[in-house]
Amino acid sequence: MMDAASKHVDIPDSAVAFVRQKIEFTPRIGLILGSGLSHLAEVLQSPVIIPSADIPEYPGSTVEGHKGQLVFGTLEGIPVVFAQGRLHAYEGHSVHAATFPVRLLAALGVERMVVTNAAGGIHPECTPGTLMWITDQISFAFRPVPGPASSAFQRADGPGSPYDADWTARGMAIAASLDIPTREGTYLWTLGPSYETKAEIRMFKWLGADAVGMSTVPEVIVARHHGIKVIGISTITNFAAGLGQESLDHQEVLEVGRQVRDDLQKLITALVADLAA
Ligand code: HPA
Repeated sequence: MMDAASKHVDIPDSAVAFVRQKIEFTPRIGLILGSGLSHLAEVLQSPVIIPSADIPEYPGSTVEGHKGQLVFGTLEGIPVVFAQGRLHAYEGHSVHAATFPVRLLAALGVERMVVTNAAGGIHPECTPGTLMWITDQISFAFRPVPGPASSAFQRADGPGSPYDADWTARGMAIAASLDIPTREGTYLWTLGPSYETKAEIRMFKWLGADAVGMSTVPEVIVARHHGIKVIGISTITNFAAGLGQESLDHQEVLEVGRQVRDDLQKLITALVADLAA
């Protein structure tokens, strides 16, 4: 088993020490909760909530629907941590700052990470309310992600995608057994914060993107730098620009997130239970 805690992680000792002194266990799984998905942490038993503002050197979040806190607890008997209130490069954070939560989870010893996000659907089957397994990603934000120059998934002889194929396949089977419809696709990271133009979406489609959003990609790269196994689930909250709706605002993104919450909650609980089995 990988021992992330013993690896060097570029994170202030004060942040790690602060969190360790508040929790009595090592979380095995970290979940990064996207826009409108914060409530997923409600399933945790005996939660310990640590506001990110209390954690030394934790960068501040400014986006509505992104309550900044870490919620530690157990789910299906497994120690987990949910990160609510993701940090985005479009808020002015460097990629290094925006991935602070992931580095903190790595330093705490997290072995696996589930990333969730809200995304615009580009593939015709990615309609609002769809849950999409992220099977690969495109970085279209042109931001360097600090870390080792090469990581396993980028090498010609590596697995080719940062998302864990076996774990994703398990997730698909679990979703099917729960009658939760899902599909799979490639997620493209654009910096934002403006939504895309129709012309940009035509380009992203041509590039092979099935969904577009403003997060996730740097977090996943950093998680892989630390050997953390990753799976990703996008909630498609809207058709991307030019594909079926005339306008979009952040409220609609939050509203669709709320509508699929029950399915996502069930799926995440079952995914964690599967690891306990
Ligand atoms: N574009 C970018 N990010 C998003 C979208 C979108 O259409 N919907 C939710 N996040």
